[in-house]
Amino acid sequence: MNSPWLVNGAVCDRVPAGDRGLHYGQGLFETMRLSGGELPLWPRHRARLSRGARTLGIALDEVQVEDELARARALWPSEGVVKLIVTAGSGGEGYRADAGAVSTRVIGYRPVPEPRAPLRLQVCSHRLPCAPALAGIKHLNRLDQVLAARELDPGCEGLLLDGSQRIVEVLSGNFFVKSAAGWRTPPLTGNGVRGVLRELLLDTVFPALGETLDEADMTLSELCAAEAAFACNAVRGIEPVARIEGWRNLDIGAVAPISAALHRLVPCFAD
Ligand SMILES: Cc1ncc(COP(=O)(O)O)c(C=O)c1O
Repeated sequence: MNSPWLVNGAVCDRVPAGDRGLHYGQGLFETMRLSGGELPLWPRHRARLSRGARTLGIALDEVQVEDELARARALWPSEGVVKLIVTAGSGGEGYRADAGAVSTRVIGYRPVPEPRAPLRLQVCSHRLPCAPALAGIKHLNRLDQVLAARELDPGCEGLLLDGSQRIVEVLSGNFFVKSAAGWRTPPLTGNGVRGVLRELLLDTVFPALGETLDEADMTLSELCAAEAAFACNAVRGIEPVARIEGWRNLDIGAVAPISAALHRLVPCFAD
């Protein structure tokens, strides 16, 4: 395979030392499943990227990004994972960015990860701070996830809570829980990433199945009483939770109809 990195449209694995993504985390990323040479969820990734660019003041040229993605895809295998990073570029005076600065675009490739066994969830003690202005977007500052990952035992996935003990999401995905009242997922108004898979489940998959799904806060004690749960992201699709470490097992069978419906809609995600 050719180089796994393209920077500003050229095969290269370096960015300028003055880049604001490196200095301040002023940038965004999308990690996307590549299937049959296409990015099936690209319109949703593009919409989140452009929301994030407006929030962080990044000059995003969507046509240029799409051209560079097409160039990258022509170099790489047709199945895999593509990571796109767009930063605010170089320049500015300290935290103050230059108006009209040109963005830096980095595109990388990696193979699809091996599927994992149903998840064992470990509740992390690190709490996600409340930052409503940044909630939902996929910005480059992932230090909370880095700290939480340091707590995890091998083979476990982390469950992240906020300072009010509300469940937010898992380490690198969104979180759904089934109780007697139906399915529920946290609303992500103060923190967390509004995943493209989460959005697809909310607006298409659950309505097609006729399943109730509420965006509502939930606590650990509600999770303890739950029947089933799953995590999801745009690389691995849906991953059922088998066990909450130290507490109890969950019913992974209850997740199967949701996975099957997602597979019918986007076949690269296994059912
Ligand atoms: C912290 C975090 N939350 C949620 C998600 C899920 O987002 P998506 O469905 O767009 O992959 C991710 C994906 O990497 C993530 O890193």
